[in-house]
Amino acid sequence: LDHEVTETVDLHGAAQGSRTLSVVGAGRAGTALAVAAAARGWTVRAVSSRDPERARALADAVGARVARVPAEATRAASLTLLTVPDAQLSRVAATIAAAGLALPGRVVAHCSAGRGPEVLGAVRQSGAACGVLHPLQALAGRQSADLLEGSTFNIAGDNGALELLRQFVGDLGGAILEVPAASRALYHAAAVLAGNAPLALLERATSLLIEAGIPHDAAHAALAALLEGAARNARKAGPRRALTGPIARNDADTVRRHLDALADDPDARDLYLRMAYETLALAGRHGHEETAAVLESAAASTGEAEMSTMVA
Ligand SMILES: NC(=O)c1ccc[n+]([C@@H]2O[C@H](COP(=O)([O-])OP(=O)(O)OC[C@H]3O[C@@H](n4cnc5c(N)ncnc54)[C@H](OP(=O)(O)O)[C@@H]3O)[C@@H](O)[C@H]2O)c1
Repeated sequence: LDHEVTETVDLHGAAQGSRTLSVVGAGRAGTALAVAAAARGWTVRAVSSRDPERARALADAVGARVARVPAEATRAASLTLLTVPDAQLSRVAATIAAAGLALPGRVVAHCSAGRGPEVLGAVRQSGAACGVLHPLQALAGRQSADLLEGSTFNIAGDNGALELLRQFVGDLGGAILEVPAASRALYHAAAVLAGNAPLALLERATSLLIEAGIPHDAAHAALAALLEGAARNARKAGPRRALTGPIARNDADTVRRHLDALADDPDARDLYLRMAYETLALAGRHGHEETAAVLESAAASTGEAEMSTMVA
């Protein structure tokens, strides 16, 4: 560690006080978490990132200092979040360990959904505890900080890490979800389905409106507001009660017209059909038999017989 680093961050006793945070990786998640923590009574002590300009921008926003290397950030706070890309986690942990600092009482956690605490195992050499703190939320930087209140966080880690992670989540107004280590991939797959797949559907739907002659921005604004409304209703009432549209109403003629309108776009028609089956499964087959028959006949005509067995 060079001289300049120790000047940049005054570290003597710097980790005193349990609500102190450092962030390594000043990207989308790190920025949202640091801004939210600062607003909820945590002191953000240090920010380290590969790009010093980016580290400086976040540090200035949350009243923190810049640490030139991750180990210095770690020494400065009780909790350090490594919000770097997943592929960098073990490397950053190794650099923290290689600095040879004594970090008893510190917690180092990453924010990845798919990895366990063991990816940071190297930092245990310095006396720090390892953890995972995965916010189950779409974070796009500072403007996402307020989304964290009311979000769910998956936490895991060494015994010495869990209490502080729980305190952090509680202070941010989040809920805690503990997922068995063996089910981590299932948890992440669920997050991808709920958090990412709807955006792919939004993009597909937008292209249909553009095909109908609607300008891109107007198409996007209209459909994004619809998606937001559906998500908000589903959050309150559950997806089944929140479901609207022709399948919920068993309006089989309308569903048939949609499939006809998509006849020249086989990919979009297949997607519509696949999602219509999912929607029918949500609505329940009972009372929706006419719609089920339209879907089964459409699937049979395109050789997608396997779809027709899905809701049998
Ligand atoms: N974004 C989300 O919605 C979200 C939600 C939950 C969890 N997460 C998790 O949060 C982590 C980060 O994701 P993200 O979306 O925030 O990614 P991101 O926006 O790409 O940010 C990653 C940041 O880490 C910095 N960085 C990369 N390698 C580094 C290194 N070796 N040392 C120090 N800094 C390094 C990057 O470099 P520069 O300094 O060059 O910018 C960048 O600022 C991932 O584990 C992800 O799974 C993300």
